[in-house]
Amino acid sequence: MILPVIMAGGSGSRLWPLSRQLFPKQFLTLTGEHSMLQTTALRLSGIEHQAPVVICNEEHRFSVAEQFRANNIKNSGIILEPVGRNTAPAIALAALNAVKGGEDPLLLVLAADHVIKDEAAFCASVEKAAAHAASGKLVTFGIVPTAPETGYGYIKRGDTVTANNGAESGFVVNEFVEKPDLATAEKYLASGEFYWNSGMFLFKASSYLAELKSHSPDIYAACEKAMAEIHPDQDFIRVDKEAFEACPDDSVDYAVMEKTSSAVVVPMDCGWSDVGSWSALWDIEDKDSDGNVFKGDVLSTNSKNTYVNAQEKLVAIVGLDDVVVVETKDAILVAKKSQVQDVKTIVNQLKAEE
Ligand code: GDD
Ligand code: MG
Repeated sequence: MILPVIMAGGSGSRLWPLSRQLFPKQFLTLTGEHSMLQTTALRLSGIEHQAPVVICNEEHRFSVAEQFRANNIKNSGIILEPVGRNTAPAIALAALNAVKGGEDPLLLVLAADHVIKDEAAFCASVEKAAAHAASGKLVTFGIVPTAPETGYGYIKRGDTVTANNGAESGFVVNEFVEKPDLATAEKYLASGEFYWNSGMFLFKASSYLAELKSHSPDIYAACEKAMAEIHPDQDFIRVDKEAFEACPDDSVDYAVMEKTSSAVVVPMDCGWSDVGSWSALWDIEDKDSDGNVFKGDVLSTNSKNTYVNAQEKLVAIVGLDDVVVVETKDAILVAKKSQVQDVKTIVNQLKAEE
């Protein structure tokens, strides 16, 4: 049986000013009718699975619980991190929690902040991956790259892998390179041999723990200690603060996926986007005939290829091209669409002023 693990601890700082520390991107309804977290849980309906586990920061516990309750989505627990230590420890906590009753489910690790347009294709890839994961492999889902993005992991596809049940839907991972520099990303893209890592994984809880123990023993030890004495409180699972604070901060990509020799990549062609920035959101939204995306009360003349999101006031734009405007109660962002990655710098300036 598949146990989805939804990682919801990110800060989504490039989507400021809508995404805030106390209410980051995964809790926002950016496209469609549900928040990104709700959509992540709801798109599992095509897969046979247990109720998902969510892992998030302590300060977001009520947002998570409320968003599940509002849609009658069940959960198998909400694991609370006292501090963020990135995804390798987060997944370790979920895996240790999953095996503590003697079970060993397949963990479907999902980011809470991805857009997937073709849910059937997503479910089909997960089903194909299950045979490989059951054979002890760490499966990653590969997306065909369309640009030399440096914010993603790159996976070099090797020979076809046959799972224990004879299924041949995956490839050996010959190389996994997390966030390469631009020149390397361009080389990978041109070779046609690489996928982007989607940031979703499928593996047995025990397979992940064994690989983590062998490649990042400090993370394993700290998480084991943090889970040794947990404090359940309704759906919330609190881990030991001191032990978890002592855990090294690292992502699953660096701590495990770059190092393991047990990885398999299963391609996924599902209209995936990680909606990392305002321009990524503009990319995936329906546009008017001038290429504009307007949310809320917006008036425009002579403008092209803009993204305008008005939360509180009427926003009017005249003669703007390739610009992003996001208006909220207490902050307004106006940015060139090509430079929206740097919104992160503004957020860092704000943090420094706090
Ligand atoms: N619980 C928890 N705790 N969740 C976390 C934490 C944490 O400390 N840090 C991040 N997350 C969640 C985020 O909310 C997001 O859903 C997911 O884990 C991935 O984290 P990101 O910080 O968004 O990672 P990334 O985008 O830089 O890179 C990853 O995703 C790319 C695809 O979007 C990597 O896996 C790349 O290889 C991949 O290409
Ligand atoms: Mg991300």
